[in-house]
Amino acid sequence: MMSDYAHDSFRCRSGFSSPPGMARKSAPDDPGSSGRGQARRETTALLRTPLCDLLGCDVPILLAGMGGVARWELAAAVARAGGYPTLGMVREAPDLIEAEVTALRRVTDRPFAVNLIPAATDPDLLRVQIDRCLALGVGAFSFFWDVVPDAVERVKAAGCLVLHQVGTRQAARDAEAAGADVLIAQGIEAGGHVHGRAAAFTLAADLLRATHLPVVVSGGIVDGKGLAAALAMGAAGVQCGTAFLATEESFAHDAHKARVVEAGAEDTILTDVFVLNWPKGAAVRVIANSVTAALDGRLLGHDPQDLPREPIAWDDGTARLRYSTDSPLRTTTGNLEAMALYAGQGAGAIHDIPPAGERLRGIVAEAAELLARHASGRVTQGDRT
Ligand SMILES: Cc1cc2nc3c(=O)[nH]c(=O)nc-3n(C[C@H](O)[C@H](O)[C@H](O)COP(=O)(O)O)c2cc1C
Repeated sequence: MMSDYAHDSFRCRSGFSSPPGMARKSAPDDPGSSGRGQARRETTALLRTPLCDLLGCDVPILLAGMGGVARWELAAAVARAGGYPTLGMVREAPDLIEAEVTALRRVTDRPFAVNLIPAATDPDLLRVQIDRCLALGVGAFSFFWDVVPDAVERVKAAGCLVLHQVGTRQAARDAEAAGADVLIAQGIEAGGHVHGRAAAFTLAADLLRATHLPVVVSGGIVDGKGLAAALAMGAAGVQCGTAFLATEESFAHDAHKARVVEAGAEDTILTDVFVLNWPKGAAVRVIANSVTAALDGRLLGHDPQDLPREPIAWDDGTARLRYSTDSPLRTTTGNLEAMALYAGQGAGAIHDIPPAGERLRGIVAEAAELLARHASGRVTQGDRT
């Protein structure tokens, strides 16, 4: 079966409209009526897919719901530049979720999703997280890891959109059966927790054949080449984590951002040693550090029960343990180098820490240029942009 979206997601459109009830405040990044605004409108129209109508964004670039990192400032910057933001709220207290949603809404009325990880969250906490989101009128959720049908069904029954990130065809089937509206195909290149073992474009191609849902490619995408390739294959858009982690507005610690800038394409590794508080075997992609160097090549096969509980850093007085899944945030002090320094394989192509809007516009401009050149037959194999 071919995804419905595969047929028309590469179609060029002119102009754009918000879904009903999604009127927007004008924001500094909105394309205005100037010549530059006109050029930007034409560029975004070229990249627009039906997913943009579904989500209420201008370009099909999703900010990944990175726990700790994707807070309101980053979400606002991505939204104002035309992308679709996700607040990374895994295991956060309902009061923090409310504070982040409120802060985001104070600066933009563009749509957004809240990311939660049902399978890795205590069921009582998950219930009150969802309660609070629904009470706040959150309109979309992005879920990840094993599909928990109850969670999907509950927010669908409340009228919310569900985006589900998956790493396998089976998880995609489970998410679709539970009622998900959008599948995010996460590849092994991705930064952070990695659920499957297939490459992002391989999995996305498989899901395009296997489902009618829109498919978003996630993992290793940091520039317009990735977005252009995703749209050309019939995907509905891309999701980026690492590319937005290394921006001014992200809540990651500067030391983490600096490691992403320094990293080459082969400096990230997949390991399950950062696993305290997660199910055994949950692997993450991180930049190699002193903790992974000490493993002598045994990157996988660690049991959380065998790992010592040793505080190495602190966040507002809360201890962060060696081998935990916490990454260093703006507020973290201590041995930051030994924490989980999440990054995808695309880190090698990240060389700076710009404002997030600038990062997004760079991806958009490069993708539009590449697709236009392809359409006019001007691309040769030796071309480099
Ligand atoms: C720092 C960091 C934290 C992440 N935290 C989460 C999370 O809390 N929930 C989630 O669904 N995905 C999380 N991810 C994974 C992303 O959803 C996404 O799959 C990944 O960032 C895509 O790969 P890329 O980083 O190469 O763009 C995280 C990724 C990073 C880099």
